[in-house]
Parts: sequence; C-alpha cells; structure tokens
Amino acid sequence: MIKIGIIGCGHWGPNFVRTFNKLKDTTVKYVCDLDSKRLREIKKRFSSVFTSTSFRDILKDSEIDAVVIATPAVTHYQLAKEALKFGKNVLIEKPFVLNPQEANYLIRLAKRVNKIIMPGHIFEYHDGVRIIRNYTREGKLGKIYYMYSRRTNLGPIRNDVNAIWDLALHDISIFNFILDAVPLKISADGFSYLRSHIEDVGFITLYYPQDIIAHIHVSWLDPRKIREIVMVGDKKMLMFDDLDGNFPLKFYDKRVMKKKYERPYYTFEEFKMIIKDGQVSTPLIKIREPLLVECESFLEYIKKGRVPEEVLKRGIDVVKILKGIESSLKNKGKEINLSIR
Ligand SMILES: NC(=O)c1ccc[n+]([C@@H]2O[C@H](COP(=O)([O-])OP(=O)(O)OC[C@H]3O[C@@H](n4cnc5c(N)ncnc54)[C@H](O)[C@@H]3O)[C@@H](O)[C@H]2O)c1
Repeated sequence: MIKIGIIGCGHWGPNFVRTFNKLKDTTVKYVCDLDSKRLREIKKRFSSVFTSTSFRDILKDSEIDAVVIATPAVTHYQLAKEALKFGKNVLIEKPFVLNPQEANYLIRLAKRVNKIIMPGHIFEYHDGVRIIRNYTREGKLGKIYYMYSRRTNLGPIRNDVNAIWDLALHDISIFNFILDAVPLKISADGFSYLRSHIEDVGFITLYYPQDIIAHIHVSWLDPRKIREIVMVGDKKMLMFDDLDGNFPLKFYDKRVMKKKYERPYYTFEEFKMIIKDGQVSTPLIKIREPLLVECESFLEYIKKGRVPEEVLKRGIDVVKILKGIESSLKNKGKEINLSIR
C-alpha cells in the first residue's frame, strides 16, 4: 500500500485526495493546508484522513511514501526540496517550478536520494491529446501548417503567477507533446488590466521546427470559457474542444489543393486552388479522467523507481519556454530565440 500526503488543499488539492483514494494499493493518509477551514472541509468529505497545518508533519511521518504539492506556484520549489530531503517521492502540480535551475536541481536531488520527482502536466495524460499526438505522428494531418489554442474564462484569478504561467503552460505542454518538439523562438504580448504587474491576458506565438506556427490566447478576463485547440495540416484539420464531454475531437477532411491549369501558365496565380470540403468525423472516444491517469502513472513510476527521461525533459522545457516568454513580455513582444535542445 502506497501512502500519500497532499500538501495544499485549496481548489485543486481535494481532487488528488478523491483520485488517489479511487486507485488500488494506495491511500491518502495525510492532508495539509495552512488554512484550518480548508482542513475541516476535507475532514468532512474524507473522514479517515489525518490533517495538519504544517507540511512537516507529513514529511516526518515515516509511513508516507509520496507527497503531492498542490500549493501556489511560488512555494513549489522549497516544498519539493524539503520533501525530497525527507525521503519522499514527489509529484508537483503545474507549474513544475519557476525557473529551469530549480527544476534541474530538484531532478538531481531526487536521483541523489533515490526518490522520484514528477511534474504534473495533466494534458500529457489526456486520452484526447494522446490521440491527436498519434494522429499527428502517423502523418494523418499531412504537413502541419499551423495550430492555435484558446484558453479563456472569467477567473479564476491568481496572485502569484500571471495568466500565462497559469494557463498557457497547458498549451505549451500540449503543443510540445503533440509535435514532439520545442519552439525555436517565441514572441509574446501580455496585458495587465486588473492589477499593474500581473498579466491577465496573453497572446503568444511559438515558432516550431519545420515552419510550424503555434499561437496561444489565454485570459482570465473573458466572457466565455473556452478550451480549444485547432490544427491545420495540408491533408486534414482537427479541432479539440476539451469542454465537449462526448465529442471533444473533430476531424475535418478539408484541404486546399493546388492544381495547375491545363493551358501553359507563367505565374503562381495561375495555379488553381481547389477547395476539398469533405466530411467532418467525430469519433466517440471514452476519455478517462486525466488526473486519474496522471496519478496512476505517478504510482507506476514510484514502483519502478524512475520517471521516464522524456517526462522530466518536457517538464524543464516548459519552464524554459515560459522564461523566454517572460523576456519577450518585458521587451514588448520581441522575438526571443530559444536554444532548448
Ligand atoms: N492541473 C490543473 O489543471 C490544475 C488546476 C488548478 C490548479 N492547479 C495547480 O495546483 C496548484 C494549487 O492551485 P489551487 O487552484 O488549488 O490554488 P488555491 O489557492 O485554491 O489553493 C492552494 C492552497 O495551498 C495552501 N498553501 C499555501 N502554502 C502552503 C504551505 N506552505 N503548506 C500547506 N498549504 C499551503 C493554501 O492555504 C491554499 O488552500 C497550483 O500550482 C495550480 O497551478 C492545477
């Protein structure tokens, strides 16, 4: 039986308690939050769990094998460092940490103390995203021209990180995962409407190898909740709507073909553009709860004693890209070259 401690039980933390308790051979023994009101609420829902306002109580409990850090981003590094030093396996909610040096340090520390550390990039465990990844890898979209995502809503508004760290992080993680690549350069604009130094809205362009352009629009100041990704290839196109519980994926058999006129032609304009407006298919896919798949993977990695290198690498990549975005924001949208790999 793997015993888990959850550090941070605000909006997101209780989902870990619920999810781990659903899985076999594991239980959430301890929950910690600075706010005792949160702990009383947790105790009402999960009566057998121990609670504390000090995370050290969890770390000192020798029965606890692993902790999940679901606190605000600014606390992740310190909490993870201490947890590893106490000999716990660690799952850190997104964002992993706030700079690549911290990420590298934690990964090295985990190896030194023979424990694992895993960044919780939930969309890597999303069946819909995994289908898109396979589809793209198999070349079914053809050559990818461009892709974009929209992740907007009215709130929730964070105080420790901006909307880009909070929301665009998901899209960067998804794009890197689907394309199995990292951007060569990025540019980003962000706007702070509610407070002077925290961007509520972001527009980010990522330039991937093979001339693939990806654009991200995030906002927590928007009338509509949208969670959408569109990919356009030269053979097919697709749309992923994470809010559509039954048919989140739509494949469009649509493209534009270039065909030469029969008579002699002299300029590019004399190519004929033929619109192929084919069927839209909406496969009925049974999507497992992504958090459940993430938690299962964490348990599997604990049993194996290691997290796959590519998972860790993707965790660091996202932090590096976000740091690049920060530079671009500071320089009014300047293109920033990234040399990640
Ligand atoms: N993967 C996802 O889809 C997803 C969704 C929401 C939030 N998150 C992430 O989860 C984390 C928490 O987000 P949230 O929305 O639950 O925030 P929140 O503010 O609702 O909750 C954070 C909780 O952590 C507690 N806390 C802060 N410092 C602590 C400490 N040192 N020890 C113990 N408790 C402490 C606070 O009292 C609060 O209750 C963030 O990193 C966020 O980015 C991920």
